[in-house]
Amino acid sequence: MSALVVALVVALDGPAAAGKGTLARSLAQRLNLAYLDTGSLYRATGLAVLEAGGDPADPKAAESAARTLDPSRYNPADLRREEVADAASKVAAIPAVRAALLDFQRHFAHHPPGGKAGAVLDGRDIGTVVCPDAPIKIFVTASLEERSRRRVKELRDKGETVIEARVFADMAARDARDSGRGVAPLKAADDALVLDTSTLDAEGALAAVMAYIESKQNR
Ligand code: DC
Repeated sequence: MSALVVALVVALDGPAAAGKGTLARSLAQRLNLAYLDTGSLYRATGLAVLEAGGDPADPKAAESAARTLDPSRYNPADLRREEVADAASKVAAIPAVRAALLDFQRHFAHHPPGGKAGAVLDGRDIGTVVCPDAPIKIFVTASLEERSRRRVKELRDKGETVIEARVFADMAARDARDSGRGVAPLKAADDALVLDTSTLDAEGALAAVMAYIESKQNR
């Protein structure tokens, strides 16, 4: 008789530049799980609309881009561009776009690629909407000032000329759009561990999450 195998899902949510991507990747490596950056799906949708000359806030254009999306078509460096982040946050506010991307995310979580026993998904609504039954949920956050400082450093490291006040204002606007939208707004699930990384480096954040996972497993 074959045993029913249920994939271990780790849901990692939080605002931009809170350190979730780095944490999710190192957690996936440490636990030998697959990793999905769900923001890249919204970014790819936003970029597809921009490339077609459309408006990312136009529900018809955005839904059609999401329904026909091939995430592997896009180069990660293009997806990280600031205008793509802005387009992503606009398409992400459209309910039909979120519905179109839901199956892909759930399928990845429950049938992780590469024969892995589970998956780490990072995003904004993984613990609340995409995988509400995930046994491990973490909401990673940091102050707006600290997240803006990290983003300025990241852009300067890439050789870009940056106006700090502009990065701060853009991040505040994106936070407001992600948290204020009617569908799947950014918020911590009731049963999530809330981890503030304002004063933690990457190793400190990973250690805190590993300790939390171990404490849950020993319960
Ligand atoms: O995490 P990121 O910056 O790559 O996300 C890009 C945009 O997509 C951001 O505005 C929030 C949105 N997003 C979302 O609404 N839901 C997710 N699960 C992931 C990202």
